[in-house]
Amino acid sequence: MLGAWKSKPQFPPVCVSAFELLFWQKIMLRMGLRNNSYISYSRALFAESFHRFLSTQTGGKLQDKVALITGAASGIGKATATKFINNGAKVIIADIDQELGQETAKELGPNATFIACDVTQESDISNAVDLAVSKHKQLDIMYNNAGIACRSPLSIVDLDLELFDKVMDINVRGVVAGIKHAARVMIPRGSGSILCTASVTGVIGGVSQHTYSISKFAVVGIVKSLASELCRHGIRVNCISPFAIPTPLVMGEMSQIYPHVDAQRHEDIVHNAGVLKGANCEPNDIANAALFLVSDDAKYVSGHNLVVDGGFTSFKNLDLPAPNQVQ
Ligand SMILES: NC(=O)c1ccc[n+]([C@@H]2O[C@H](COP(=O)([O-])OP(=O)(O)OC[C@H]3O[C@@H](n4cnc5c(N)ncnc54)[C@H](O)[C@@H]3O)[C@@H](O)[C@H]2O)c1
Repeated sequence: MLGAWKSKPQFPPVCVSAFELLFWQKIMLRMGLRNNSYISYSRALFAESFHRFLSTQTGGKLQDKVALITGAASGIGKATATKFINNGAKVIIADIDQELGQETAKELGPNATFIACDVTQESDISNAVDLAVSKHKQLDIMYNNAGIACRSPLSIVDLDLELFDKVMDINVRGVVAGIKHAARVMIPRGSGSILCTASVTGVIGGVSQHTYSISKFAVVGIVKSLASELCRHGIRVNCISPFAIPTPLVMGEMSQIYPHVDAQRHEDIVHNAGVLKGANCEPNDIANAALFLVSDDAKYVSGHNLVVDGGFTSFKNLDLPAPNQVQ
């Protein structure tokens, strides 16, 4: 992580007073960095490093827990892996993208381990679970997050069933397989927390084309069905339904729909689709929800779908005309 810091002084990151300056200087020294080191870093990078430093000093919410996250090379999975590590966990990064997965694990430091894993291959998931147990002796948290978007015709009449099967294989079967193998090692211990990524498109219809939407409705159903069995073994099962976030998954979609505008415009379009004024949905919002659900803060929460959408799925506005517009 430190190796990623660039070479121009910009310290401290958010200092406004002499007191804060002293505070940051002390922290930097304890982190082994001299005030005159020729290093600079973004606020976010500093905040993450600082949190990691704090977790090693004080213990985080997931101290000594072991987590496996699928699709953790990028986007929501990567943000969550970072958050979990910063809270004291050891994380297995399981992803089909080997290059990016290795890069992510390197960036996250010694508490991250990468394993190549295609969630459509049951043996890959089984191996990833076994790696967590052989390397760290246990698996406390399984986050089934890997998923893909798809562009398919809008009408059911034109539905491409081969594409439908491919999406279900990853977004639904991959999740079931993840829960199956996590349960295999969690049941004997009588504890564990399983999390899945659903979507607002699995809360209300019409937000995306059918195939993706159906796959995410299925995830919510899987969580409720499996929570009913696994609660008897002390294992909680929950999911998170995020609103649209401009991760590579969504940006890929946007560039196909709007090839004539740049990435910044794509990001703006995604954010402008939200309803909560003054805030955008970001990977870290999902990581915060994930941290809550897998930690003891949520020790009595199971079978729950935590919707992180700024209120988007909670209401519809009636577009009635104003009284003076009605003759
Ligand atoms: N970004 C959004 O707006 C949004 C909203 C709601 C739900 N989601 C869901 O969040 C999850 C994470 O998506 P993201 O937005 O972070 O996208 P992302 O593209 O940044 O990350 C997805 C990761 O999954 C990996 N992956 C894809 N297929 C895989 C497979 N077969 N096996 C293992 N790994 C595989 C990819 O390599 C990638 O690293 C997905 O399930 C997605 O459906 C995303």
